[in-house]
Amino acid sequence: MPKIVIAIDGYSSCGKSTTAKQVAARMGYGYIDTGAMYRAVTLYFLQERVSFSNPKEVELALERIQITFNHNPKAGRNETCLNGLNVEEEIRKMYISNLVSEVSAIPEVRWSMVAQQQKMGRRRGVVMDGRDIGTKVFPDAEVKVFMTAETYIRAQRRQQELLAKGELVNLEEIIRNLEKRDLIDTTRAESPLVQAPDAVLLDTSHMTIEEQVDWVIELADRRLAEL
Ligand code: DC
Repeated sequence: MPKIVIAIDGYSSCGKSTTAKQVAARMGYGYIDTGAMYRAVTLYFLQERVSFSNPKEVELALERIQITFNHNPKAGRNETCLNGLNVEEEIRKMYISNLVSEVSAIPEVRWSMVAQQQKMGRRRGVVMDGRDIGTKVFPDAEVKVFMTAETYIRAQRRQQELLAKGELVNLEEIIRNLEKRDLIDTTRAESPLVQAPDAVLLDTSHMTIEEQVDWVIELADRRLAEL
């Protein structure tokens, strides 16, 4: 059976990562959360006080960053590591969400992350979720999904996610953050969030995670049967 690349792009909090993770597990594929990589870079820039507007400083900082995903069998999940340190919890916090779109719009940051993501998926057999996987990282991905959902529903999901981690954030603040990120993500000059012409649109507003996973797997199975 040939191995393919499944690209899942779309807006934040549409269920991309949860779906991608489960699709990867069911297919025996690797899972790469590209948003986590931009979040880890944001954390590093904040820790090291890197000036976002200084391309030279950004470039030098990027050379010092190593991002890996380590499997934690106890937690049953992949954890994002920044220079060997587990930052999985930290990068999900609201102060990172508030700055990550700004950092991910920096061209030098994108060039570096895209090159690393292409390397990670070069043997195929991966599910990658992000904003530019089907358009920029793997324009030749065999399966491309573009996920969307109503803003209010996305905000409610995000609020539940943060609450489960002990962070109580009001809905209005989350909606503001989502709308601001949508705007930056879709209007940035370097590979903005846009549906690839050959991506299939999936509105997850009224779908369960199980339905989303089944839907992507059916699409992948149909594609695999054509190869
Ligand atoms: O998927 P997420 O919410 O964890 O992503 C965090 C941010 O990273 C998001 O606001 C946009 C950016 N991002 C990106 O620009 N390109 C990607 N491939 C993935 C994420």
